[in-house]
Amino acid sequence: MKTNIMTAILLMLCTVVFSQEDKAVEKRIQLLIKKMTLNEKVGLLHGNSKFYTAGVPRLGIPEWALSDGPHGVRAEMNRHNWNYAGWTNDYATCFPPGTAMAATWNLELTRQRGYVLGEEARYRKKDVLLGPGVNIIRTPLGGRNFEYLSEDPFLNSQLAVAYIKALQTKDVAASVKHFLANSQEKNRFIIDVNMSERALREIYLPAFKASVMEGGSLTVMAAYNKFRGEFCTENNYLSRTLLRDEFKFKGVYMSDWDGTHSTEKSALAGLDLEMGTLNKKYEDWYFAKPLIKAIKEGRIQSSLVDEKVANILRVMMKTKVLSSKNREVGSMNTKEHQQEAYRSAVESIVLLKNENDLLPLDMSALKSIAVIGDNATRLQCGGGLSSEVKTLYEITPLQAVTTKFGKSIQINYAQGYEKQSQPGEGSNKGQLNTDKIDWKLIDEAVAQAKKSDVAIVFAGLNHDFDSESFDRIHMRLPYGQETLIREVAKVNPKTIVVIIAGSPLELSGIAYRVPSLVWGWFGGMEAGNAVWDVLTGKEFPSGKLPFTLPVSINQSPAHALGNYPGRDLKVNYEEDVLVGYRWFDTKNIAPMYPFGFGLSYTRFEMTDISSDKKEYDQNDEITVTISLANTGDNTGAEVVQLYAGQTHSTVLRPKKELKAFKKVFLETGEKKTISLKVKVQDMAFYNEKTSNWVVEPGEFVLYVGTSVKDIHSRLPIIVK
Ligand code: BGC
Repeated sequence: MKTNIMTAILLMLCTVVFSQEDKAVEKRIQLLIKKMTLNEKVGLLHGNSKFYTAGVPRLGIPEWALSDGPHGVRAEMNRHNWNYAGWTNDYATCFPPGTAMAATWNLELTRQRGYVLGEEARYRKKDVLLGPGVNIIRTPLGGRNFEYLSEDPFLNSQLAVAYIKALQTKDVAASVKHFLANSQEKNRFIIDVNMSERALREIYLPAFKASVMEGGSLTVMAAYNKFRGEFCTENNYLSRTLLRDEFKFKGVYMSDWDGTHSTEKSALAGLDLEMGTLNKKYEDWYFAKPLIKAIKEGRIQSSLVDEKVANILRVMMKTKVLSSKNREVGSMNTKEHQQEAYRSAVESIVLLKNENDLLPLDMSALKSIAVIGDNATRLQCGGGLSSEVKTLYEITPLQAVTTKFGKSIQINYAQGYEKQSQPGEGSNKGQLNTDKIDWKLIDEAVAQAKKSDVAIVFAGLNHDFDSESFDRIHMRLPYGQETLIREVAKVNPKTIVVIIAGSPLELSGIAYRVPSLVWGWFGGMEAGNAVWDVLTGKEFPSGKLPFTLPVSINQSPAHALGNYPGRDLKVNYEEDVLVGYRWFDTKNIAPMYPFGFGLSYTRFEMTDISSDKKEYDQNDEITVTISLANTGDNTGAEVVQLYAGQTHSTVLRPKKELKAFKKVFLETGEKKTISLKVKVQDMAFYNEKTSNWVVEPGEFVLYVGTSVKDIHSRLPIIVK
């Protein structure tokens, strides 16, 4: 009781202190605005180069420096074109991209990534780091899936909040992107996305809402596309009603690069900052001279410009841009940063199949090993477009195995397949004509596999497929890899496939033909070390799929319903709230591997699973306790997942929805009791008739499991 009172007093004191601090900030903002000319104000509202906006030096406002991206600080670009500046001091730490981060299901690791990127951004004197990308993975073909996080709004929200909060402690503003519904790259500049209010509220909005309201994201980037007929940069509903009024967002709403289309309309809709407009002199950008003209002609009030300037100054103040003292100076490429990149890669690795415990490999018992595949040697950090990183180094799988075991084991390498796209092809042409089967390369690989104790194929995609600006054109393994893997598996029964990719792939052609299957992602700068440490048991696999792996593309909701990529530049999300596993689970469609799935080198047992009560009131919080024991022979980690579903509802609801999770590390023989909490209100659905969130009284079921399909316990409860 005493502690409760103390906490309440402390909270009150904090609120008083904060609001006084906020008042002081607002006062300073107004004083600065009063001193500024209209030209100076407008200079803050548009780029003066690719990634900077003009400051007001006479008032101590420096240029504002923005930079990509979500898994590493991007190398310096030329100020006035899209070429790299060629600096020698902008090599950076490269983390595994978004889906890999999500596959760790580890919020602490996500926080550490935020700290590292914040430090590196500050070292490079950046003020805003453009990310995280939190759009929902709606189709397996989405070009930016690798950069985004997952198909689940709760998982996305948790990760985004952890990352943003950590990043911003380093005096760098996050820019959660792309608001809203940039779930396909096909026609991304123009596609008009339509969805029900319910799908918006339940699926597409939560990660943005959480990023702003819980994570405190200081900036938000508008998506390129249209939403319900209006560009996201001109969309009153998105930027005024939702962002400003509902989420109480006080930061900067910026356009994506070349995503502004108007002066008046965007200004009125609440856009603060225009970036990246192409083919125009900076002074002719929508938020430059045309904005001044609109004010002079009385089409826009000058107070609207002041509002935007205030938003920018507020973010600058919160990140100490305007104070020379105490600002984070940052650090770059430290051993600690690289260690975080390594941990992130290790924990992202998902073990999908492991017959007869082929993995982990006992390297001391092996004489030779075949390492096959173009992805065994391909550098990946520098690909994907705006999220590419000029990494200080990148350890490929072949390099890692050679360093670690080259002296003790014969390593037989074969390329196996070739990246068939033509150099210089920057668009999705890189994917065309890439299904040729190269028997010469296959024969070489087969020969190496035949004479080796074990064969490991590093297969999958590269950034000709997983990339911004275009979607994939199919979900299959390109470059004849299916044939390669089958042929290798015929001659070596100990064939292990490691998939290097950031978005779903069709695996049905290979999964039944090899004993072990591992999803290794694009693993960042430490990719090779991480994957070999997991394959050889120095580390253990603990990743879980952040998306469903369908058997084939037609199983996937948007494709099953024929509404990807849309018609006449419009797409209607007819699957509604049944996105990702919600579709598979509710419709009883068996995917290849379900959301949340991932094996381990040990065994876990869950017992004593119970909820604290059987009946709950609307405002209660439910606590579920679980005993988790490691009953196997190895150390490991399990992600305990709690899903909820309502037995009968007046609207169609997904059978289960993720509501809580915890990653638990256990030594052999160790047992822990964990608790997961869910607010009854978090089980609500969005009622379109009444425009509010509703929990209909009745029976709900809490499902505790290790994937959406591997459910260990069903706990029925009543909500009154
Ligand atoms: C991307 C953004 C990125 C921006 C700046 C755009 O093409 O959509 O995510 O931050 O470029 O590079």
